[in-house]
Amino acid sequence: MSAQNSLPLLDLSTARSSLNRTELQRGIRRYGAFRLLAPGIFRAFARAIPHGYSPFGSELIRGKRRMPKESVYFYRQRDQNTPSSEPPAELSGSIIEILEAWHPLRNDVFEVLSNEILNTTTDLTSEPLFEYETMALHYYVSHKLVTGERDYSPAHKDGGLLTILVRGMSGPDGLEVADLESTNEVDSGKIGLEASFVPVPVIADEVVVFLGTRIQRLIGDQARACVHRVSAFVQDKDCPIEERLSVAIFCAPPI
Ligand SMILES: [Fe+2]
Repeated sequence: MSAQNSLPLLDLSTARSSLNRTELQRGIRRYGAFRLLAPGIFRAFARAIPHGYSPFGSELIRGKRRMPKESVYFYRQRDQNTPSSEPPAELSGSIIEILEAWHPLRNDVFEVLSNEILNTTTDLTSEPLFEYETMALHYYVSHKLVTGERDYSPAHKDGGLLTILVRGMSGPDGLEVADLESTNEVDSGKIGLEASFVPVPVIADEVVVFLGTRIQRLIGDQARACVHRVSAFVQDKDCPIEERLSVAIFCAPPI
């Protein structure tokens, strides 16, 4: 089953009364993720971030595990637009362009999610550090894979309220989300071993939104945190994905 059909789509431009609540509620319980129609963000990425462009120093070691990727992190709010490392100014400008395409949608996404999909009285927009966002640009390339490794990034959950993931290439790029109803496990490592995963292909003018562990703690199991991974191979085809570039906006950090 294609994730194009698996993950529900949130289109903010339609009347809220016509939202497909049932489909969104069910998809969010099952995958902890949804698609968001956001042509402005998608096009800002396509315009600003050329593929095959890796303009920064290698950062192969991150966390507990060696990963075949390079990353640059940007901490816009807390550090007054000063990125955590020193990427070229041109790249910083591109990242800000993507962030500025997201900001007009931010409150609507959180309000629709709270009031119409999750039906919670928790006002997510007044949560501490709601407006604090970290951004990451990730670049994966197959020749840096450790021999025998099949994932660019292992199964994990993100820690904040929401993650907005922007990608530019079309079709499958290795992103997969767990079907949380296919396992009773709660730990992301065990879910990674046991659950069924569905691919999430890139669709023009859309971004993917993951629910993080903080929103699950606030709201409960109708807002389950998404377990996601990045395979280095197209599912069922054994075809390597030579490179992959993505930008993630992490909304409201874990506290
Ligand atoms: Fe993630």
